[in-house]
Amino acid sequence: MLVRAVVTKNFSKSLCLNISYSAIRRKENGWSDDEHPLVFLFLGSSGIGKTELAKQAAKLIGAPPGYVGHDDGGQLTKSLRKCPRAVVLFDEVDKAHPDVLTVLLQLFDEGRLTDGKGKTIECKDAIFVMTSNLASDEIAEHALQLRKEAEEIERQKYAGDIKDEDLPEKIVISRQFKERVVQPILKRHFRRDEFLGRINEIIYFLPFSRSELFQLVRKELEWWAKKAKERHRIELRWDSNVEAALADGYNVYYGARSIKHEVERQVVNQLAAAHERGKIGDGCIVDITAEGPSEEQSDKPLSKEDVKKKHNLNNKQTVIKLRVKAEGVKEFADLDEPFSNTSPLNS
Ligand SMILES: Nc1ncnc2c1ncn2[C@@H]1O[C@H](COP(=O)(O)OP(=O)(O)O)[C@@H](O)[C@H]1O
Ligand SMILES: [Mg+2]
Repeated sequence: MLVRAVVTKNFSKSLCLNISYSAIRRKENGWSDDEHPLVFLFLGSSGIGKTELAKQAAKLIGAPPGYVGHDDGGQLTKSLRKCPRAVVLFDEVDKAHPDVLTVLLQLFDEGRLTDGKGKTIECKDAIFVMTSNLASDEIAEHALQLRKEAEEIERQKYAGDIKDEDLPEKIVISRQFKERVVQPILKRHFRRDEFLGRINEIIYFLPFSRSELFQLVRKELEWWAKKAKERHRIELRWDSNVEAALADGYNVYYGARSIKHEVERQVVNQLAAAHERGKIGDGCIVDITAEGPSEEQSDKPLSKEDVKKKHNLNNKQTVIKLRVKAEGVKEFADLDEPFSNTSPLNS
């Protein structure tokens, strides 16, 4: 039950968590090689939740996660002695010193580790999770391509009559891509084939799908709405156009961080500036709107005015605007000042 709860909370990673969780269950239930620890490698672009999931996995299994610094071997043996079934996280393992890799290989291969004082520690019951950004650009680009193809097929099926949120989620990285593209990059970096050979599962973190992006945006806006309510008694409202416009700010190289950044840049800056000028405050309702060329396709030819407007909108950029209804007032009014939403330094 607990598993499900966490899985749905960490929506985008449910699939890969399932894979690793089944391996973990097998180990717990005695359906695995018990001479060696379980070793996972998480790959994918940054900001996509690798570290986060490694920590979650540790919580799931009920073991305290072990955090080990690059040259902190003593710490590791101490933790493993205290807790032989620990989940040990080696975050960004590609940045580790080659000597550390030698130690890791011994750990994974022999299921034991000899520390500086010659003491031997068993670790065959432990679970090691390594994360790395190796091959992350290749994986992201390949996944984006696959997703684009899957979306095109889907759009054709529904003759274009499909909402962003209903676009397909699941894409599968082929074995061929793993063998031809990813493996060589890993081999080149880690040098030793035995090291890769000791990894039980490589888990791929793929760029967020459109519907995951919507969820991320919603989560972020809801977080700010709660803050606005609690701190300033301001109610925030928005519609799916706003969510779509913000989801467009996704940058595959920065992952979830780019969504947070986009919400701050496009929405929070404006709110803060309006609040500072006394344009919004206690008891008011702020309607966040997205204005732009975006989805609305009209059959009517564009007037000169429209063309100009479109041009001013900075080449297809949707603009996020605020409308306000003060307490006791009936109508919403546009916030007329042209707030800059490019720099947090402009107030
Ligand atoms: N699936 C997700 N849902 C919500 N937030 C996420 C998700 N993935 C990542 N994040 C957030 O993005 C940030 C970066 O995640 P992190 O796990 O450090 O990424 P990575 O290790 O892949 O670079 C964290 O603040 C994390 O909470
Ligand atoms: Mg990380």
